[in-house]
Amino acid sequence: MAETYARIAGPVVRTAEFRQMAAFTQHGDTSTMEHCEAVAYFSLAFARAMRLRLDERSLVRGALLHDYFLYDWHDHAPDRWHGFTHPRRALENASRDFALNGVERDVIAHHMFPFVPAPPRHREGWVVTLADKYCTLREVLMRRPYAPLEGTVM
Ligand SMILES: [Fe+2]
Ligand SMILES: [Fe+2]
Repeated sequence: MAETYARIAGPVVRTAEFRQMAAFTQHGDTSTMEHCEAVAYFSLAFARAMRLRLDERSLVRGALLHDYFLYDWHDHAPDRWHGFTHPRRALENASRDFALNGVERDVIAHHMFPFVPAPPRHREGWVVTLADKYCTLREVLMRRPYAPLEGTVM
């Protein structure tokens, strides 16, 4: 029996560190926290629908922290290259606040592919790059997160 999304995501989502992202706007009316939860949820849903063999725990944890850069890029991004530099910043912050494995680090570092040259090295990273683009498009067009994340069945 596969673990539920809530069971895998819970230990990260419940931390005060993770919840800092609620204060920052990502796209439209979506906070960075909601965006990260949507990407993590959709990544797992997609991986299961495609019956991909991968490490679901690393997939979800990496996705939850992929945008853990901890600032509001609309008004005070540290530099104008936010789109290219934020994965590195997210990785630095996440490495400081959470115990990450190599797959999780890869997910965070390479999630902006193909906008950055280096592709992910693991399958988990590929799924998150896809889920991130899908959720971003949805948030920009529909101005709300991917799915109601409370009371989900997966
Ligand atoms: Fe990102
Ligand atoms: Fe993202």
